[in-house]
Amino acid sequence: MTLIDLRSDTVTKPTPAMRRAMAEAEVGDDVYGEDPTVNRLQERAAELFEKEAALFVPTGSMGNQIAVKLHTRPGTEVVIEERGHIYNYEMAAMAAVSGALARPVKSSDGSGVLAWDDIAGALHVGGAYYVAPTALVALENSHNLAGGTLMTRARTEEICARAHAAGLAVHLDGARVFNAAAALGERVAALARPVDSVMFCLSKGLGAPVGSMLLGTRAFVEEARAWRKLLGGGMRQAGVLAAAGLVALEESPPRLVEDHRPRSRPDQHRHLRRDQYRPHVERHLRAPPGRARRPRPRLRHRHPHGHALRRVRRRHRARARSAQESEQ
Ligand SMILES: Cc1ncc(COP(=O)(O)O)c(C=O)c1O
Repeated sequence: MTLIDLRSDTVTKPTPAMRRAMAEAEVGDDVYGEDPTVNRLQERAAELFEKEAALFVPTGSMGNQIAVKLHTRPGTEVVIEERGHIYNYEMAAMAAVSGALARPVKSSDGSGVLAWDDIAGALHVGGAYYVAPTALVALENSHNLAGGTLMTRARTEEICARAHAAGLAVHLDGARVFNAAAALGERVAALARPVDSVMFCLSKGLGAPVGSMLLGTRAFVEEARAWRKLLGGGMRQAGVLAAAGLVALEESPPRLVEDHRPRSRPDQHRHLRRDQYRPHVERHLRAPPGRARRPRPRLRHRHPHGHALRRVRRRHRARARSAQESEQ
């Protein structure tokens, strides 16, 4: 029996092209900046995002936390949506690593997508000396815990313009910014243009086995490189991993629209050649036809804690409760 694993887009497996590229990767010592494949990946990412420079980091969490470190000082605050990954799922690292305090805010429409008015009420800029000043606004696009909700280019531009006018930096947790770009019909460069730094993951919907990228100005990335080392993220012959990342950047973004297709079912994909499938879609194909056609929960997207998934779980719990009550 083949199980279709919908827990997360982090459970993707490398494609054959990625595995080939990994096996054949040219490598060097990346701590000395001498790994040609890592260097190529960093140049390619910077080019795609139209940023000055990029840094290959082992995880999205490390990329985010290096950004928080560089944009804050101990005793300053980071304004973030209350369900933001940086605040909820990164082990309180902004306190442990940066000595910064999260100032979580609700989005007024409940979507998880902040508007400037939501942020403005939480800012401490130019206030009394005994109030911790805001140093950073942290955005997330798409917003994982809010169910994969999207921040448009216009909203990002407005928030950044206002934050910059107030002297604040903006970091974008773009773990899934390629998904956001695909869903919004935008280029990733457009969604990331106004932010000071952006992190995106190669190891989620793009399907690479390991790695994320942190992007910003050349000076920011140089400092980030030192913090990566300090945090234990200086990798040696990392070209083996970067090679898969390079393939992921080329082959995966055009296919994200398939991931987003609502209630996509294997029988709707049969007209496609096998090699046109992304890895998780291949798993659909391998399912025996009888099983594959069975109605499955209608998951609207593949984000790990999406509200569609929660709705299904709620429904199951409610059924279990009413079965229990009728037994009593
Ligand atoms: C929105 C978001 N940001 C950051 C991360 C952290 O990525 P990593 O697991 O590579 O540390 C995740 C992981 O799921 C995420 O969903």
